Amino acid sequence: MAEERDDDRPFTRIVTGGRRPEWTGAAVNVPVWRASTVLYDSVAEMRARPHDTHHKPYYGRRGMATQWSLADALTALEPGAAGTLLYPSGVAAVATALTTVLAPGDELLMVDSAYEPTRAFCDGPLKRMGVGTRFYDPCIGAGIAELIGERTAAIFMESPGSITFEVQDVPAIVAAAKAAGVVTLIDNTWATPLLLPVIEQGVDLSVMALTKYVVGHSDAMLGSVTAAPGLWQRLRQTTHAWGQCASPDDAFLGARGLRTMGVRLKQHEASALTVARWLAERPEVARVLHPALPSCPGHDVWARDFRGASGLFSFVLRGGDDAARTAMLDGLRLFGLGYSWGGYESLAIPADPERMRSAVPWAAEGPLVRLHIGLEDPDDLIADLAAGLERFTAACQPS
Ligand SMILES: Cc1ncc(COP(=O)(O)O)c(C=O)c1O
Repeated sequence: MAEERDDDRPFTRIVTGGRRPEWTGAAVNVPVWRASTVLYDSVAEMRARPHDTHHKPYYGRRGMATQWSLADALTALEPGAAGTLLYPSGVAAVATALTTVLAPGDELLMVDSAYEPTRAFCDGPLKRMGVGTRFYDPCIGAGIAELIGERTAAIFMESPGSITFEVQDVPAIVAAAKAAGVVTLIDNTWATPLLLPVIEQGVDLSVMALTKYVVGHSDAMLGSVTAAPGLWQRLRQTTHAWGQCASPDDAFLGARGLRTMGVRLKQHEASALTVARWLAERPEVARVLHPALPSCPGHDVWARDFRGASGLFSFVLRGGDDAARTAMLDGLRLFGLGYSWGGYESLAIPADPERMRSAVPWAAEGPLVRLHIGLEDPDDLIADLAAGLERFTAACQPS
């Protein structure tokens, strides 16, 4: 059994992480332990156990080795982290992370480019809890210090934003937050800790929709929160209080996906860059919003902080309307029309950021399309998009 070592590099850690011999037995992988009920040897043991249930079978909701193994493997990717907990979806992870750090009367600073259901959680349940939210410009950087007020308790980042791809200056925002005694959270689903380990940069809670690149095969819903030492106990208490847990079958799929995430991400990155650069040259395309291209807001920050790019980006069409964009999307052969991303297959969606903005209005030359570039041959994907752009142009012509 390959032993975990602190000086192992990230691509080694995703292979060795969480594979404790007492959890794997003689097998390579930790099996699926399905359990609600856990049995104890004696009443004395029952009474002793609840005081420290981490990594000890207690009751199914607290997980078994299948969930702990994936959680530990994710912690191993975030130097400086105290631990990770799993959730039934990325949205459940976002909601639990936010309620770990917020109380009635607090104010939250939320990035304006946040994933729409994250926004909705602020405008709905958090508002009803008495927590106010102020949305801020994703490119604000150190300027966030001016927004921090008496009631500000937390700053939430998502970098890059998963529709409009502004890259945030995480170190500058963390520095301003720490100076003011405010905690920071990030949705790190796009980069994963392989491309951006955030806990060592001083972020307190890092959230991922494991549904995307970690599961990687579009067949399970799963989320995670990884905590810095200062918030680990509070995260555990809040998670248990809300009754949050993830199924062992889904955790197994997450662990299976994680082991190959390094090579998959490299291919997603290479193919997405090929497609993005091709799109950038097309006359029908006004702008490509890909963090690795200079046309993307925050590109310099990406080049400074990230170890690479994943496979999700957007482009803005030059002119045209929703009907012309629909003509392009409806005829795609290899790109599925679906709201997710991070799987092995390519996907496309129409997105309208103007509906999701309040701090910085969205202005663009035409409608926006978001692509997830999967593991198909990028030349085939380009041919599919070329035919789509022809349909777009035809739909733009006056009849
Ligand atoms: C950036 C981002 N965060 C969180 C989520 C939510 O994840 P889930 O669908 O697992 O709830 C998504 C889903 O699309 C996402 O794109």
